[in-house]
Amino acid sequence: MCGIVGYVGNKNVTDVLVHGLKSLEYRGYDSAGIAIRNDEDIKIIKSVGKITNLEEKLKDFDKSYTMGIGHTRWATHGEVNEVNCHPHFTNNVVLVHNGIIENYRELKKELEVIGYSFLTNTDSEVIAALIDSYKGSKYDALVYAQMKMRGSYALVIMFDDEKNTLYAMRKDSPLIVGIGKNENFVASDISVILPYTKKYIDIEEGEVVKITKNDVLVYDEDGLVDKKVKTALWSLEDAKKGGFEHFMLKEMNEEKDLCTKLFNKFIEDENYSDDIPDISKYNNVDIVACGSAFYAANVGKYLIDSYVCDGSIHINVDVASEYRYKKHFYGDKSLVIVVSQSGETADTLACLRMANNLGVDTLAIVNVPSSTIAKEAKMVMPMLAGPEIAVATTKGYFSQVLELSLIAQKLGYIKGMISDEEKNLLIETFENLKSYLTPLFEIDYSKIANKLWSKEHIYFIGRGIDYIVGLEASLKLKEISYIHSDVYQAGELKHGPIALIDKSTPVISIITNDEIKEKSLSNAIEAQSRGASLYLLASENVDIDNLKIDEIIRVPRISEFYQPLLNIIPFQFIAYEVAKLKGCDVDKPKNLAKSVTVE
Ligand code: F6R
Repeated sequence: MCGIVGYVGNKNVTDVLVHGLKSLEYRGYDSAGIAIRNDEDIKIIKSVGKITNLEEKLKDFDKSYTMGIGHTRWATHGEVNEVNCHPHFTNNVVLVHNGIIENYRELKKELEVIGYSFLTNTDSEVIAALIDSYKGSKYDALVYAQMKMRGSYALVIMFDDEKNTLYAMRKDSPLIVGIGKNENFVASDISVILPYTKKYIDIEEGEVVKITKNDVLVYDEDGLVDKKVKTALWSLEDAKKGGFEHFMLKEMNEEKDLCTKLFNKFIEDENYSDDIPDISKYNNVDIVACGSAFYAANVGKYLIDSYVCDGSIHINVDVASEYRYKKHFYGDKSLVIVVSQSGETADTLACLRMANNLGVDTLAIVNVPSSTIAKEAKMVMPMLAGPEIAVATTKGYFSQVLELSLIAQKLGYIKGMISDEEKNLLIETFENLKSYLTPLFEIDYSKIANKLWSKEHIYFIGRGIDYIVGLEASLKLKEISYIHSDVYQAGELKHGPIALIDKSTPVISIITNDEIKEKSLSNAIEAQSRGASLYLLASENVDIDNLKIDEIIRVPRISEFYQPLLNIIPFQFIAYEVAKLKGCDVDKPKNLAKSVTVE
């Protein structure tokens, strides 16, 4: 995820910017750049890869520059190279940008008509031209840009004809102003300013901030705003975690905003956008991945098979470490989809390379834009989850499931298996997804965790899509709390696994699938009658009558295309709370690595 830093004061600006960019490194990035100015000119210096590469270029640089902006880029539009790296400039405007401008193609066309041309493939360069195109005051130009842009942005802007002044504004992307003594800062993250000052102000949507070394002036449509100066009480480490106790908790909390981000990216004019891959021309699709990404792939297959398949497409899902050693007979209507958060998982990458070598079409659903998988796949659907630092994936899995659901929906719509009316309803649910999710983030999961943390074995059961969500729930629990946990299709329980049930063995039954809810409930009762302590995750319409349940979590019932996204949230929280109670290292579980780059 991109990071921003801006400075105006008396210090050598390159030192401040490089230091700031380094404290943003934890967010992940693929390239970095700065723009600095002194009385004479503005200089832009960029480099691909680590910030040390940028530092190398700045080694012998003139130290007289005392104002500038810097950026770490996490590519979303256009490949990873120096041209696409920020800062971007157009005539009088130089800027850095975080976020995504949804209507940038439209704006670009309008600007081309009036004579602008573009060097990069980015949406950010379009903003520079947009601001530059306005003939009027700088404030009006920025308000004009706010009105024209659709999407999210945190922007810090310098004008060639105005020395010693930075401008900033934001929408749905974080940005704060750090208040120093004869110096001021602007940054996407408090961690940047902490070495210099603890005082900061928040920028609200619709505001325009003018920053000089002695003043920070915030304007909105009614004029000058009286802003409250806050004091950051966090340590540097806390700041990186956004005040959350662990990265995992922070990342789970980001899932709500991720829905909005993905909605803005993939829905255009109340329709599925061209950014959602159309797989309708293929008749054989293999989805390949490892771990949680493999479980996300299973959700995708289930949705396609159950709801949108007219018999003309066959979906096969496999774990990458198996798939790479199997024989494959691809036809000209075959597609291989690889799913990977890191984009570096060795087995998944090997499958991608094998498919590429055999000439078959490949599509990567991938989070890290600079990763090998993102570079080598023929088509890419970016996960837009931002850097995931906790080893156990949460928002990554969430994004993978949502994107596969969108591919399924678009396929169904194109094939006529989803009507216009159904499509409209699905898009409406997507738009409201955050409001369905929010109550699940407000439940106190510590009560359940207290009952579970001392157990040796925990079993999950479910049918259909509930079973598939159980796979991920069980993995989350075992990998961070080290409790042995397994998941069974509820109907299979009595064919063997029920022998494992002792008095008080926790069995967590997931029941949100309408068609088979009675059967699932009977299976749960079977386990209970063998002594199991019964925990339920059930949708509101599952009637539990007078059953004695240890704990029940209710989830809203929504379309099956989104239901798995709701169902997984409580299990991520339960795993987190259990791991904490056991004193486990939540963000770095033993024996695990974030990116599995060996076979
Ligand atoms: C589980 C987890 C792993 C990954 C798997 C694939 O929480 O994080 O199971 O899902 O190693 O990783 P990526 O998606 O990076 O290919």
